[in-house]
Amino acid sequence: MLPPGRGLLWFGLVLGSVCASLESAAQGNSAADALNVLLIIVDDLRPSLGCYGDKLVRSPNIDQLASHSLLFQNAFAQQAVCAPSRVSFLTGRRPDTTRLYDFSSYWRVHAGNFSTIPQYFKENGYVTLSVGKVFHPGVSSNHSDDSPYSWSLPAYHPSSEKYENTKTCRGPDGELHANLLCPVDVADVPEGTLPDKQSTEQAIRLLEKMKTSASPFFLAVGYHKPHIPFRYPKEFQKLYPLENITLAPDPQVPAGLPPVAYSPWMDIRQREDVQALNLSVPYGPVPADFQRKIRQSYFASVSYVDTQVGQLLSALDELQLASSTVVVLTSDHGWALGEHGEWAKYSNFDVTTRVPLMFYVPGRTAPLPEAGEKLFPYIDPFDSASEPMEPGQQAMDLVELLSLFPTLAGLAGLRVPPRCPIPSFHVQLCREGQNLLKHFQFRAVEGDPPVHANPRELVAYSQYPRPADSPQWNSDKPSLKDIKIMGYSIRTIDYRYTVWVGFSPQEFLANFSDIHAGELYFVDSDPLQDHNVYNDSQGGALPWSLMP
Ligand SMILES: *[C@@H]1O[C@H](CO)[C@@H](O)[C@H](O)[C@H]1NC(C)=O
Ligand SMILES: *[C@@H]1O[C@H](CO)[C@@H](O)[C@H](O)[C@H]1NC(C)=O
Ligand SMILES: *[C@@H]1O[C@H](CO)[C@@H](O)[C@H](O)[C@H]1NC(C)=O
Ligand SMILES: *[C@@H]1O[C@H](CO)[C@@H](O)[C@H](O)[C@H]1NC(C)=O
Ligand SMILES: *[C@@H]1O[C@H](CO)[C@@H](O)[C@H](O)[C@H]1NC(C)=O
Ligand SMILES: *[C@@H]1O[C@H](CO)[C@@H](O)[C@H](O)[C@H]1NC(C)=O
Repeated sequence: MLPPGRGLLWFGLVLGSVCASLESAAQGNSAADALNVLLIIVDDLRPSLGCYGDKLVRSPNIDQLASHSLLFQNAFAQQAVCAPSRVSFLTGRRPDTTRLYDFSSYWRVHAGNFSTIPQYFKENGYVTLSVGKVFHPGVSSNHSDDSPYSWSLPAYHPSSEKYENTKTCRGPDGELHANLLCPVDVADVPEGTLPDKQSTEQAIRLLEKMKTSASPFFLAVGYHKPHIPFRYPKEFQKLYPLENITLAPDPQVPAGLPPVAYSPWMDIRQREDVQALNLSVPYGPVPADFQRKIRQSYFASVSYVDTQVGQLLSALDELQLASSTVVVLTSDHGWALGEHGEWAKYSNFDVTTRVPLMFYVPGRTAPLPEAGEKLFPYIDPFDSASEPMEPGQQAMDLVELLSLFPTLAGLAGLRVPPRCPIPSFHVQLCREGQNLLKHFQFRAVEGDPPVHANPRELVAYSQYPRPADSPQWNSDKPSLKDIKIMGYSIRTIDYRYTVWVGFSPQEFLANFSDIHAGELYFVDSDPLQDHNVYNDSQGGALPWSLMP
């Protein structure tokens, strides 16, 4: 993924003259009491977390963060695949504006020279730092994590990342395989470590350096798990005995599901252990005992990431940075763990578009810690005595990941970028998302009542492209040139409504007169989205005029 030597060079830079280079990197923002930002992005994490009401998953450290945070119950990604979602929320623009629906273009040359969240902070005097998977690597971030625009220093990538897809999983035959299910003995793997452990260590080193910096910092830490393959320290399996693992509540492909809506989950089929199952394409099914094993390994990976978040946050505490740092935790999108017979992201359902989203804002979502007080002491997920923790505050409003840009800017006291004109390809700095500051009870005039939006007026948009009406080899990740249909999806507090319409990848035009299929699910009567009532609704006036 990285050219050999780049990681080492980076390491030398940081451990060498870190303070000098970091401070000259910042552009002289005095801002003695500016808030720092720690943005934690977990890859493919659906809200299977204690703080989101999951009774099985052990996530005590993320739950503890939630207990001091404002947690959004209804937050949605704009496209359920890594690079398009990350470029969308990091620029604050929808995929139709970044024109990135696949992995193969760099928005600055392909769509418009849009500013990113870290770039905006950097231009406002922050030292901006990237650890792990923040931008998706490759063309979509110009093979440089959007350097030099977004970051004060080259982005850090853990050296052990290169083993993620190699044969490092010990199978029942005693041999090493490239498996989907990959619990490992960390002492036994190449380099004796895992990418997310290295990222935590690096992030803590950077926090130590930044503690004495005159400039505020924006540190983004991207964890790789629970993205497939499920390569995690094997002891985490013990938290989830197989006999305690249930199947998805709706493991069948729903009868009324239009074939265009279905993701054939081709990537897990490439793994050796899944290939051995000889599953039928495109619908499966996966044998029930293997379904349990996939779910077990996903949950174990979540608990493993939770320990990394716990170590990172307890370091923030130890360094007395918890009173001056906004902490945000989110994910690029969810993942279907057998719901609708699917095992992937790549769709418009809630299970793949809904994400965790929580903001800890010192003195706002929780009282400032007193001297010596610890807000984030590390909690061992194996300690069964630890009590479940409730979120500090919750918001039910529908929100989009697009809101991260204006909301983080506002929380840090920077000017909130203006709303984008339509179209906005020529505008470098503007926002397509809502500013969520009102939720934090920022008031225009002291004494004004807090503003609450009417949740019925709010919507979250997502979209997903397809190359054909029926599932085929490239339905999950069509290249731009192969896209023929776009599924545009609206989620309101009451329903999810999706239309799959003709789309021209040359002109980037959707044809809403060319409807290939539709889906409509009501949240109250069908929360899992298994009973498509689109045909019953034909002729009804649904709010397509709202589409941006
Ligand atoms: C894009 O924006 C960056 C940062 O503002 C600027 O340095 C660069 O010159 C711009 N590129 C073009 C082609 O406008
Ligand atoms: C992308 O990277 C290449 C190679 O480093 C560089 O020449 C080019 O200027 C970069 N593109 C932009 C828009 O900065
Ligand atoms: C598994 O389920 C049993 C019965 O509900 C429960 O007593 C036990 O604590 C569970 N084990 C774990 C590790 O959650
Ligand atoms: C909806 O109508 C279309 C066109 O008549 C049909 O092909 C499809 O099977 C129907 N879907 C359901 C869920 O009844
Ligand atoms: C795989 O499954 C197909 C039918 O689904 C069957 O014809 C074939 O024999 C199976 N192959 C193996 C190696 O089990
Ligand atoms: C849009 O789709 C309709 C229905 O298929 C078709 O008649 C029309 O020509 C299409 N418009 C464009 C601009 O392609």
